[in-house]
Amino acid sequence: MTLTHIDESAEKDLIVHRQQTRESAARTYARHFPIVPVRAQGMVITGADGRQYLDCLSGAGTLALGHNHPVVREAIQRTLDSGAPLHTLDIATPQKDEFTNTLLATLPDTFAKNARIHFCGPSGADAVEAALKLTQTATGRHGVLAFTGAYHGMTLGSLAVSGGRAAKTPVAGLSADVTRLPFPYSYRCPFGIGGAEGAAIAATYTQRILEDPNAGVVSPAAMIVEPVQGEGGVIPSPDNWLRAMRQLTTKHAIPLIVDEVQTGAGRTGSMWGFNHSGIQPDVVVASKAIGGGLPLAVIIYNKELDVWRPGAHAGTFRGNVLAMATGTATLRHIQALDLVNRAHTLGEYLLDQFRALKARYPIIGDVRGRGLMLGLELIEPTANTPEPAAAPDRARVVRQECLDRGLIVELGGRHDSVVRILPPLTITDVEVESVLSRLDEALSVASEKE
Ligand SMILES: Cc1ncc(COP(=O)(O)O)c(C=O)c1O
Repeated sequence: MTLTHIDESAEKDLIVHRQQTRESAARTYARHFPIVPVRAQGMVITGADGRQYLDCLSGAGTLALGHNHPVVREAIQRTLDSGAPLHTLDIATPQKDEFTNTLLATLPDTFAKNARIHFCGPSGADAVEAALKLTQTATGRHGVLAFTGAYHGMTLGSLAVSGGRAAKTPVAGLSADVTRLPFPYSYRCPFGIGGAEGAAIAATYTQRILEDPNAGVVSPAAMIVEPVQGEGGVIPSPDNWLRAMRQLTTKHAIPLIVDEVQTGAGRTGSMWGFNHSGIQPDVVVASKAIGGGLPLAVIIYNKELDVWRPGAHAGTFRGNVLAMATGTATLRHIQALDLVNRAHTLGEYLLDQFRALKARYPIIGDVRGRGLMLGLELIEPTANTPEPAAAPDRARVVRQECLDRGLIVELGGRHDSVVRILPPLTITDVEVESVLSRLDEALSVASEKE
């Protein structure tokens, strides 16, 4: 190590130390990734100490094109050079007009032609709040149907419809209007059955809840669902089950909100996660990748719901002109290079490779996912429990061993035991193999832990 490297390493440690002593106890990723990024290109992040990392977190699924993609940089530069205002509340701009055209064109025609769009504050959670308020206003009802394992954000309304107990426990007044329904998580089936049968029972249970006049559930304003639960542990919703949810909600005139914050813009190997099942939602919630790495969030919904009042979901940061430009550039590039198809093909390949790893490492209980939204659920192979015991300690070892080998992967799911793989859609074949070999080594180390 040269003197410069020692200096850089010491400076990096100081920055991390200052963060630890000054920032909130609620900080998250910073705890596991003390890396101080200073440069990034594609899926490679360079830290202040000169170390390089392959980024399989992609800003929690935001960076569809990886870091600093040329089309994103060009869109920023062009917009800056044009002298356009960078902040315009929700006033019309050419950039917003172009973004709206581009976004609507990615949606099924039948949906887009009757759609309205609302620009929200720039987080997924704010768009979820908007979707809840919109459907409550339009139906005049209050209750929301939400699923076990769901993650919709950290604001009060979005937290109320989310599943994770830890974040909800200290917060007052969250659950009054939410009915929790079983999500068909095959590996840990709420009915102990799994597979297509478990999913069918989950659908029947929801039907009974809606149709039994003594089930205790007042007619709800909406059902909210993720096409693939991300934070819940990378659990794809089975297509038949999602179709059953659509049929039931249509039958009972309940607007169906599909939360595409993480699954949208090609991530699952289809432009939108709901496309896999062929359903048509009433409301689509979108954020993360649609902004091309800059903050942007919208809801797109059936115009029949558009009965809320001016200002019903206002917010200062709804006119981020740079984000509209980078969002347009990103969506266009995804389509021009058919990255959706590539996400599908690579996803299938990676799942095959993960299955091969599962055959070698008994600590892998399940592998699953769709497109480039993948997960490996770790278990204690020798635990004598009725269902496989979650292995959060081993998962943490995998995350750390990956980091030591220059690979960033995050955990999620029940007990944080699912290793999540969320590379950019632009990941190269060579990078795919590097991810696999580093992950393999990390799993090998984690397997040996007592
Ligand atoms: C499905 C889903 N909905 C909503 C959110 C919340 O988005 P944000 O963190 O931008 O508020 C997330 C974030 O991960 C998400 O995955």
